[in-house]
Amino acid sequence: MKVLVTGGAGFIGSHTCVVLLENGAEVVVVDNLVNSSEKSLERVEQITGKSVTFYNVDMLDEKALDDIFANEKVDSVIHFAGLKAVGESCQIPLNYFENNFKSTINMLKSMKKHGVKNLVFSSSATVYGKPKSVPIREDFPLSVSNPYGRTKLVIEDMLRDIYEADKSLNIALLRYFNPIGAHESGLIGEDPNGIPNNLVPYVAKVAAGKLECINVFGDDYDTPDGTGVRDYIHVMDLSEAHYAALKKLEENPGLVTYNLGTGTGYSVLDVIHAFEKACGKELPYKIAPRRPGDIDECYADPKKAREELHWEAKRNIADMCRDSWNWQSKNPDGYH
Ligand code: NAD
Ligand code: UFG
Repeated sequence: MKVLVTGGAGFIGSHTCVVLLENGAEVVVVDNLVNSSEKSLERVEQITGKSVTFYNVDMLDEKALDDIFANEKVDSVIHFAGLKAVGESCQIPLNYFENNFKSTINMLKSMKKHGVKNLVFSSSATVYGKPKSVPIREDFPLSVSNPYGRTKLVIEDMLRDIYEADKSLNIALLRYFNPIGAHESGLIGEDPNGIPNNLVPYVAKVAAGKLECINVFGDDYDTPDGTGVRDYIHVMDLSEAHYAALKKLEENPGLVTYNLGTGTGYSVLDVIHAFEKACGKELPYKIAPRRPGDIDECYADPKKAREELHWEAKRNIADMCRDSWNWQSKNPDGYH
């Protein structure tokens, strides 16, 4: 199996490269490193003892991308590449639309031209907007609340239309809940630019003494302790689900959609306390105003993925915090 991994130098992409290589796949990565470092791929090679073919190419460059398809003759594509910061997407929506739509369209044109039929797409639980209830099933109504989310929903819609027009395609839409953690070696992990927006990278920086205090965004939500509840999933479990999805596509299932979560929700305070155990110190936090756009709770019904992909998350919140902390403490400045 030869797989093109777009955005493969990024957080989820690099961990998925490890799983693919360990399962005997050949891996080709295209990434322009706008939000990542080539070092992640060197570490992937160090972990697996196998090599990755890397193209430092912007997927907006239609010709350069097509040349990769012409040279590499891949069987499948996993499409991680994209801009992903919700707040930034509200400030510069056009950049998000141009980058995320054009790169996807260029990729789909090359897949068609070179007869590549199998695609795994990184979607997000953000496509459920404010869910009517939890746990969230794949057939729940879809909506968007920010430009980033719009790119995910529109690309899902595009892929559904493209599939209707060509039923020989096999497409897996994977809706991730909240990926955290790192490879257990501590060699690869999440390396956000600047001050992290997401909870766990922020908590990790406070634990490392690089930020002073965690801001808990709201304690008056309709949840057991009043803080927001999310479905955190270990990035290695998530990566293993991508391999399971590729195996599924080999059965010619057509277009399939799966939630990737654990099915268990944890509050902000639960996460802070789990991280305190992992790092062995108390972490300062204060209650701050709600963050605009946040919802009370969001967690998956993971049954469909369990039944159809024969995959389920194996790692718990303690494992996730241990591995996040291991990565953070071994790499205080990320890949720099
Ligand atoms: P990431 O930013 O670490 O990885 C994305 C990669 O895509 C980066 O390496 C970046 O350099 C690359 N990239 C962006 N635009 C590109 C372009 N035009 N050409 C080539 N490469 C380009 O993000 P991640 O957390 O690994 O997320 C991977 C995917 O999963 C994204 O599509 C993201 O939207 C989606 N997702 C992430 C989360 C999350 O919380 N991390 C949740 C749901 C969905
Ligand atoms: N939170 C804090 N303090 C912080 C950061 C976050 O209290 O400093 C809270 C949030 O209010 C929320 C929870 O921690 O209740 C999780 O917030 P994150 O920013 O880590 O994650 P989100 O659930 O807001 O969003 C993430 C990704 C989105 C994706 C979504 C659903 O960032 O891209 O999960 O998959 F769409």
